[in-house]
Amino acid sequence: MKALILSGGKGTRLRPLTYTGAKQLVPVANKPILWYGIEEMVSAGITDIGIIISPETGAEVKAKTGNGDRFGAKITYILQDKPAGLAHAVKVALAFLGDSPFVMYLGDNLIQQGDLSYFLKQFTTQQQDALILLREVSNPSAFGVAKVDETGRVLQLIEKPKIPPSNLALVGVYFFSHIIHDAIACIQPSARGELEITDAIQCLIDNQKQVTACQLDGWWLDTGKKDDLLEANRLILDTYLTTEIFGEIDSQSQAIGRVQMGAGSKVINSTVRGPAVIGKNCYLENCFIGPYTSIADNSKLIDTDIEHSVVLEGAKIVGIHQRIIDSVIGQRAQLTVAPRRPKALRFMIGDDCQIELT
Ligand code: TTP
Repeated sequence: MKALILSGGKGTRLRPLTYTGAKQLVPVANKPILWYGIEEMVSAGITDIGIIISPETGAEVKAKTGNGDRFGAKITYILQDKPAGLAHAVKVALAFLGDSPFVMYLGDNLIQQGDLSYFLKQFTTQQQDALILLREVSNPSAFGVAKVDETGRVLQLIEKPKIPPSNLALVGVYFFSHIIHDAIACIQPSARGELEITDAIQCLIDNQKQVTACQLDGWWLDTGKKDDLLEANRLILDTYLTTEIFGEIDSQSQAIGRVQMGAGSKVINSTVRGPAVIGKNCYLENCFIGPYTSIADNSKLIDTDIEHSVVLEGAKIVGIHQRIIDSVIGQRAQLTVAPRRPKALRFMIGDDCQIELT
């Protein structure tokens, strides 16, 4: 059994962060999203992992993630020259996959830890051609939706249906036998110009292959948008964070609840209310760090109240006298109050940024 994790794509919905980096490397609880997927594979016993990368962000993904030693896995990087669809990614990975069965996992998705082993067992014991995971959603029209019979056999897949046949959306995890390569060879690009994996699976169904579905009860998040990223951060902190403090907290400060803090970080005259994680070499003075906040390494926060937010590496936030909530602050971004007169707002804002002022 092999794994194929997709870490290419355009990432348009997470701009501006994706202008300068891979969305799969954006941290959730200070760990790249992609790494949760890799760890999930390894804990299910799959250690031969191929990762699809793009020309724009591939080098960064490779440099950060490495050859797999840190995860107890063997990672092979596979370049997809353009984001031409999920089925196209499988096509370019053919040399890596050979005729092995494999699990395909979208590198910006998160599923509840431990769930993959169960589905892998279902797939391998029942010797199917494809096993897809489905999750009940309230807005099926926004997803790929499956029509399934009472035995779990998939009858039809429809991309973003106007009138959905069910409220079961396709989760970004798929198990395939090598037969999927034949199906991909038969399909044509869709209206949006991509080779769609749903078309390839539909081709399997139309040819009476064994395609079944399992329902995922645990959580599933596609972190491709800001609010979903914040929700993933909340869930991971809520579920898995344990207290571990390496930095210094002075006597005027308090850490309440589950708080993690890396070596070299200093907290002065501040309150950190967990669950919250602060990386290495951060400096926090006169701050209130509220629940569900992740602050990456080398960040500096002074006179700041922040809650339910993700701060990326090297950011600086100083003297913002309003509470910051539901925010994602990019790497090395600076949010400060200018001492100069006339009192005014001064911006240097990158393309596609979103700023809400009161
Ligand atoms: P999407 O989030 O559907 O696509 P995207 O990354 O282009 O994002 P956006 O819609 O915001 O522009 O992709 C799901 C995952 O699959 C994601 O981790 C990127 C990856 N992917 C590839 O590796 N190759 C591809 O050709 C496509 C379409 C996606």
